[in-house]
Amino acid sequence: MSFLKHHKKIETRATLLLVLSLVVVSIGGIVEIAPLFYLENTIEKVKGMRPYSPLELAGRNIYIREGCYTCHSQMIRPLRDEVERYGHYSLAVESVYDHPFQWGSKRTGPDLARVGGRYSDEWHVDHLINPRAVVPESIMPNYAFLMDTKIKPETARPLLLANARVGVPYSADMLEHAAADLKVQVDIDGDWEEMVARYPKAQVRNFDGQPQITEMDALVAYLQMLGTLVDFSTFKPDASR
Ligand code: HEC
Repeated sequence: MSFLKHHKKIETRATLLLVLSLVVVSIGGIVEIAPLFYLENTIEKVKGMRPYSPLELAGRNIYIREGCYTCHSQMIRPLRDEVERYGHYSLAVESVYDHPFQWGSKRTGPDLARVGGRYSDEWHVDHLINPRAVVPESIMPNYAFLMDTKIKPETARPLLLANARVGVPYSADMLEHAAADLKVQVDIDGDWEEMVARYPKAQVRNFDGQPQITEMDALVAYLQMLGTLVDFSTFKPDASR
């Protein structure tokens, strides 16, 4: 153990100690970071995932604007109690089109990653207008004004474009039809087939029951699609890696 004698030399020379520490720390860093550059994909591709429809994306924007994430997470952890309460644990790919992601770290209210289809539209509308009308002990704020704030369909295209710029694969076709697609998602009598072809599984109906398109329509459309895109009755984790 003769090299231990040199210990003092290193510890008494600040610069040498610093240089050697840096060498040791960078070895650790390289071992962790370098392999990431050689992986083709860190996120498993899963059937069913698609970018948000214009109405859903508008709803997501309202969700962020109103700070729903300060009380709600959208991330089911792979722990037994969470999976039993909320459903299949969240996959990385399920937030691949989220800019920014809504995983959250605070659960004053329940996780919303799979709230889509759990309640009726009427339930959501009543609950958002006044949560205590349906859950008497609720401390969630009222969002009744969403019923009166209209959405202009022209606002859809810039919103899609902003998301396209950060990597969401909105096609030229999707951008061109953004405003029409937003309008037709609340119109069951309209020609919504093309919109649904562009955004498979998009739900078409009048979400808030009012004739005009409101922020309530958009927010409920967003809530009703959360966690519904991947079909977990056929999904199998990729076992090849
Ligand atoms: C101050 C915290 C708080 C904020 C902000 C908040 N919520 Fe809630 N939320 C709660 C609580 C607590 C509950 C559970 C009681 C209830 O159902 O009202 C809840 C329940 C819910 C539920 C029912 C979930 C389930 O599985 O039963 C939905 C949907 C929901 N909130 C949506 C929203 C949306 C959308 C927003 C933003 C517009 C929002 N919340 C903002 C606290 C909050």
